[in-house]
Amino acid sequence: MSYDVAQVRRQFPALSRQQDGRDVAWLDGPAGTQVPSSVIEATATLQQEGVSNHGGNFAASRHGETVTDAARSAVADLLNASPDEVVFGQNMTSLTFATSRAIGRDWRPGDRIVVTTLDHDANVTPWAEAARAAGAEVVSVEFDSVTGLLDPDAVVDALDERTRLVAITAASNALGSVTDLAPIIAAARGVGALTFVDAVHFSAHRLSNVALLQPDFLVASAYKFFGPHTGILYGRREHLESFTPFKARPAPDSIPDSWETGTQSFESLVAVTAAVEHLASLGQGADRRSRLESGFEAIRTHEEALSTRFLSGIAEMPSVRLYGPPEVGEQRVSTFAVDVAGVSPSAVAAELGRSGIYVWDGHYYAIGVMEQLGLMDRGGLVRIGFVHYSTPSEVDRVLEALEILGSS
Ligand SMILES: Cc1ncc(COP(=O)(O)O)c(C=O)c1O
Repeated sequence: MSYDVAQVRRQFPALSRQQDGRDVAWLDGPAGTQVPSSVIEATATLQQEGVSNHGGNFAASRHGETVTDAARSAVADLLNASPDEVVFGQNMTSLTFATSRAIGRDWRPGDRIVVTTLDHDANVTPWAEAARAAGAEVVSVEFDSVTGLLDPDAVVDALDERTRLVAITAASNALGSVTDLAPIIAAARGVGALTFVDAVHFSAHRLSNVALLQPDFLVASAYKFFGPHTGILYGRREHLESFTPFKARPAPDSIPDSWETGTQSFESLVAVTAAVEHLASLGQGADRRSRLESGFEAIRTHEEALSTRFLSGIAEMPSVRLYGPPEVGEQRVSTFAVDVAGVSPSAVAAELGRSGIYVWDGHYYAIGVMEQLGLMDRGGLVRIGFVHYSTPSEVDRVLEALEILGSS
């Protein structure tokens, strides 16, 4: 089955948005993606049918439970986890703060927590705050400023028997670099430390496999992979059972519900299922996990062609400098941070925005990246993100606009 981007795009109503008579180029996917009709309809249908809160003795309440169970199974397929290891919450940041408080209850002075400068701050500050409350030490590992990659050995070298947790990104939302997680997770386990993987950026581009990778926790956010604004936490069953979450007394004691505070957004959960189904619909196979695997292979092939086109385009532009991995391959996704000589990132983004090309500028909460690169004071970088609905002509359009800006 060949990948048909035009057919994919037809499923996304927002992609037909126009500005000044031209199609908008949505290259802001790293900050949040658009959604297919199936996701929109799932929410509308649920609300038209009616749904009631959990725990009532009537059909509409049981419907709410069915919706939640379906979303857990869908995300379990997406991550290769079990449904009872899937926790929902407002967003990744809220889930990470909640989890860090629960895990950090046991930390003591002398304990160490390892974070990285490549991470989004939502996978740094929750751990730093929990460490501060416990009197534990925070060790920050730097990425390689030239390649934009995190050297697994640098993280492994930071581990010792005092390390309680390693918080690490699967892919950088700023530079597009992909972390080689396996050796880090193995080494952390070797010293008895937990791993908390941020797969928020990764999830639009690659398929996670917690059964293979064996992290202790992994987080994602459905609005980054063509779904609604809902956060996702995977936790190994033994951890969800053994750590004590902060919860109201009458809330369920059994996992995963015990980790979910208050009432979940049923209208989002039904859309989470639809988003996973959308991704699965891009592939083939006997079950949803196999369809997801083949769908993500198709996504990767498509995105790598776009990345190759983009990288060869900017290679011809002396005034455009790329930060992050310079080559297409295992170690990068199709997110590019660039600087245009003589034009501030905000001016570049504003100019592109005026011509209907939506890109981001600044630090995008990846403040460790911008601080390490010394770019904080000059407004960070311009971020251009290609996802599975992006097209070669959008690549050409942004290249042309960068060329004009760079020669102005
Ligand atoms: C890599 C990464 N981690 C975490 C987050 C925070 O996610 P959320 O908005 O769901 O809290 C983001 C959002 O941009 C992100 O890109």
